[in-house]
Amino acid sequence: MALLEVRHLKKTFGDRAVLDGISFDLEEGGIKAIMGPSGCGKSTLLRCINRLIEPTSGSILFRGQEVTGRDTDVRALRQMIGFVFQNYALYRHLCVLDNVTVGPRKLKRMSRREAEGKALHELQRLNVADLRHSFPSQLSGGQKQRVAIARALAMDPAVLFFDEPTSALDPVMAREVAAVINQLHSENVTVLCVTHDFELARSVADRIIFLRDGRIRAEDTADNLRNHYDDHEIRTFFGPGAAPV
Ligand SMILES: Nc1ncnc2c1ncn2[C@@H]1O[C@H](COP(=O)(O)OP(=O)(O)OP(=O)(O)O)[C@@H](O)[C@H]1O
Ligand SMILES: [Mg+2]
Repeated sequence: MALLEVRHLKKTFGDRAVLDGISFDLEEGGIKAIMGPSGCGKSTLLRCINRLIEPTSGSILFRGQEVTGRDTDVRALRQMIGFVFQNYALYRHLCVLDNVTVGPRKLKRMSRREAEGKALHELQRLNVADLRHSFPSQLSGGQKQRVAIARALAMDPAVLFFDEPTSALDPVMAREVAAVINQLHSENVTVLCVTHDFELARSVADRIIFLRDGRIRAEDTADNLRNHYDDHEIRTFFGPGAAPV
């Protein structure tokens, strides 16, 4: 069974359909990237799935269970989805270790000792355990992003959502984050990754969803999108010589 099944999802703001009938699946252990021009609805899609934004209509099944209903336990849903943003969203006044333990302690009611054990495990997995007593201002962008990923993983989510995880990073650090996402994939973590970075999408995802004007225009491998499409919009976005987005 797919971990996530999105069917005919619509979101309108006023009379504008930002998402206009989105359907796709994300398999357990799978990884998909979502790409598309600025404003096409990528972040809105992620936010609809974890109910930060209420979908207008359509269906979202999480492990076979509908999660758009009024009776859905939104808190439980959000705990199953680890969210990693472009700007890391770390707490500036907390050291790395406390940034990672705060979720398990407050939301999962773990003891400090148990939460620190979990946090250290995830920080080691992301290769930043030696930074545990540092504060966010003392870290590089790539290190902050690793801590943000460790913090998401410390909640044992069923899936990780990334929204532009590399757009604040230089190319070297962006490749580092791509390597981390590949490592997670090899450890069977399920990932949905919104990105403007074709190289990131190509290096981590089996398939890329191309979103434009609120609809999925294609879902295919990076190479097929780059080389085998006659469609003008797809060629303009992905084709050889396409402008960086
Ligand atoms: N709360 C809101 N109220 C009204 N319009 C909104 C709201 N949130 C998003 N939008 C509009 O929906 C459209 C899609 O926004 P969204 O942030 O999902 O785009 P995006 O694909 O993530 O863009 P980017 O690549 O720039 O991050 C935009 O035109 C945006 O202005
Ligand atoms: Mg966005």
